[in-house]
Amino acid sequence: MELTIKQLLTLVCNWLDSTALSQFIQRETWVVPSVQTVHLLAIAALMGSMLVVNLRVIGFYERNQPLINITSRFIPVIWAALPILLITGSILIIGEPARSLKNNIFQLKILLILVAIGLTYAFNKPLKDNPEHWEDREGLGRIFGVISCLVWIAIIFAGRWIAYV
Ligand code: HEM
Repeated sequence: MELTIKQLLTLVCNWLDSTALSQFIQRETWVVPSVQTVHLLAIAALMGSMLVVNLRVIGFYERNQPLINITSRFIPVIWAALPILLITGSILIIGEPARSLKNNIFQLKILLILVAIGLTYAFNKPLKDNPEHWEDREGLGRIFGVISCLVWIAIIFAGRWIAYV
């Protein structure tokens, strides 16, 4: 018998739903709001840092500060927030697996997160070798900054949209 991806997802969701951890999350009503609060705090840290970096790259903020001073302070906050989002997001999934895993918007959100991580890495890597890298390529840097902002904002939008699809 051949399993389609949809059937496989249903099996995974049913199994996750029946685990003791999922049952605990479903029974204890304080767990989901608490975990969502941590998810939101990590989003605030990530988005705040992302905006400081990208607004500097675009040229709207702290133009007199060398870019490397800003990125070396704020990009580590983005990397630190991501594992917290992964852990809290996973707890939310375990509590109600089908709500996210079978939701197209959730799948889009994960894809966008991978794109945003790739963009942040591709932006930051050359700066480490040459702190002047983006100062010498202002136009390209601005395009990078705008696309990065849009992708992170789309992730927030998708995160909220999951509840309505
Ligand atoms: C890294 C892996 C991540 C996972 C596995 C994950 C998973 C989830 C899940 C399961 C929900 C609950 C959705 C619902 O049931 O309505 C959620 C909510 C949300 N997520 Fe994530 N997420 C992750 C990262 C992120 C990131 C990077 C952002 C944005 C920068 C983000 C933004 C949001 C927002 C805005 C909500 C709605 C919160 C609310 O309405 O209380 N998530 N996430």
